[in-house]
Amino acid sequence: MITQYTYGTPIETFAVVSDVPEGNQLPYFSQVSDSPLTFQTQLGTNDIVYGLGETMHGINKRGYRYISFNYDDPCHTDEMPSMYGSHNLIVVDGSTVFGAFFDTPSRVVFDVDSTGDGILSVCCEQPGLRLYLIEGTDAYDVVRQFLGIIGRSFLPPLWAFGYGQSRWGYKTEKEIGRVVYHHQKEEIPIDYLCMDIDYMDRYIDFTVNPKRFPDLARFTAEMREQGLHLVPIVDAGIKVEPGNRVYEEGVQNHYFCTNREGTNFQAAVWPGMTHFPDFFRASVRAWFGRQYKFYTDMGLDGFWNDMNEPAIFFTEYRKQNDKPDLARGDPEQPTRHIADFKDFFHCLEDGARVSNYQVHNLYGGLMTRASSEGLDQLLDKRYLLFSRSSYIGAHRYGGIWTGDNASTWKMLRQNVYHMPSLNMCGFLFSGADTGGFNGNTNRELLLRWLAVSAFTPLMRNHTSLGTRKQECYRFKTPADFRSLISLRYRLLPYLYSEYMKAALRQDMLIRPLAFDFPRTERVRLIEDQLLIGESLMIAPVLEKGAEGRTVFLPAPMTEVRWNGVDFLCEEAEAGERLISVPLNEVVFYIRKGTLLPVARCTPNNTAELDLTDVELLGTGTKYCQYRDDGYTKDCTLENCVNLKKESGTGSPMGE
Ligand code: GLC
Repeated sequence: MITQYTYGTPIETFAVVSDVPEGNQLPYFSQVSDSPLTFQTQLGTNDIVYGLGETMHGINKRGYRYISFNYDDPCHTDEMPSMYGSHNLIVVDGSTVFGAFFDTPSRVVFDVDSTGDGILSVCCEQPGLRLYLIEGTDAYDVVRQFLGIIGRSFLPPLWAFGYGQSRWGYKTEKEIGRVVYHHQKEEIPIDYLCMDIDYMDRYIDFTVNPKRFPDLARFTAEMREQGLHLVPIVDAGIKVEPGNRVYEEGVQNHYFCTNREGTNFQAAVWPGMTHFPDFFRASVRAWFGRQYKFYTDMGLDGFWNDMNEPAIFFTEYRKQNDKPDLARGDPEQPTRHIADFKDFFHCLEDGARVSNYQVHNLYGGLMTRASSEGLDQLLDKRYLLFSRSSYIGAHRYGGIWTGDNASTWKMLRQNVYHMPSLNMCGFLFSGADTGGFNGNTNRELLLRWLAVSAFTPLMRNHTSLGTRKQECYRFKTPADFRSLISLRYRLLPYLYSEYMKAALRQDMLIRPLAFDFPRTERVRLIEDQLLIGESLMIAPVLEKGAEGRTVFLPAPMTEVRWNGVDFLCEEAEAGERLISVPLNEVVFYIRKGTLLPVARCTPNNTAELDLTDVELLGTGTKYCQYRDDGYTKDCTLENCVNLKKESGTGSPMGE
């Protein structure tokens, strides 16, 4: 049961799409202040607090403070309270079970028992708020109800589930061609190559550097002949430069955000001074969305949106008037440029003028919405779209990646923690920069990371300018990397099917164990094993130098060892077991009574993948597989086909 409580005059977000009845008396919380609006609840000693999507720390958010305020900071340390997205859902699971979504577009501070007195407090800085209170039988039930009111997840094409290679610094068509060549030479499957800002003319959106990419349409077509897609980056800021068509159109039509005086706000990002499109207005979104025609006309059908918190390097005004970075180190104001966000303005649909600070967390999500609505018009097939910044609701328009992580074991573990938390908030299509963005990766870390991202919908190897080259073929024994990426492709009939079913049913794909198994204390505390879809449990190795790990099976399961060639299955009892996992292998588990359809051989890319030619692993007898051509917009559960397994064989028996 979901009830909404309204405080003040809330600014409309685009998070909730269903009608929810209004309640009178808010249960579970007491309101301890009107200004700022602050709520508190007393947690039981063993209560777990789930949710908060893209935040640091474990799946249980207890013990720390978090601030919803979308922010571009590449130092993902334990102290970092805000990341690129704001996902204001919390779910309390323990002596009481309930969820609460604080739907407000500005800054919210969640103190989840950081003082140790069991108090969860939520402080919403702006006076208007819609609070959705969800009551259910358990945490999973609460989350499913929540997913029911925020609308269906973005549906990417099949190729978006393939392996993607990226790097900030691929400068030319030739360089990307070489990366493709080496993947093909080492027989490492690959579906797409991301193009970072280097492809643009002086980092200006909707341009191509003609020296580096003399004919992007031809190059795109050549890639497609090899079954590959190119995925260009698009940044939020539009370069201020006479002659830049998009800039001129934006100025003429008053499509940009303004400063206090009413002229267009200027902030420095990659191309130098830029204006920010005012995505809060439908007319601006439609205009921005139409700009993607520049790319779709060249045959492109995948995009990543960046710098849309929005990221600001500096503003002329601040540079001249402020000491830089004063706010740094202050836990209450952990972000630079707070003053800038207060200094630039949006014009809402109803004509109201609000500072970015008041509606800050919606900006990136609305950019995704603009792109997606444009691409829906421009393309008659599904496309890949993922963004750095987000707010709940943006999951309907695109996926997200978790930004500028680092090549550390801690960040690998954070990737595991992020996945279920993001799923709770609707973001099924997500993933981290595999191998790590900042810093230099190494062979062992990249292999272990691939063994995790083989199970996340977005599987992209991406790294920063100036770091060591991170493509798999650069390391000793590329066959070891081939093994892990092959596993991804062999699992695609299952992973794609489970993704589509979860999205269409408005359910989670990646879940903590406690969402499905009896919530014993042991199960509730496990954060480094995850459920992926209905049949799979993963237990990745997350420690440097480890030759294996301890796994806890909450029930008997089939243990599957992928050795690069075969799936070796063995029945395993419930309880704890120690497994050895060489760097080129993956051990995972199939739940009793379920099946896992896997491809019979490894394709070079998804264009060669036959979703119907599958082998069924596991002890169940039936599996309902979602299948389509990988592109169609006509996605319904009617595309599911029942596969039956004849006992004792590994083959589907007919449909
Ligand atoms: C940002 C993005 C990163 C990208 C870089 C250059 O830091 O998060 O992924 O490579 O900008 O465009």
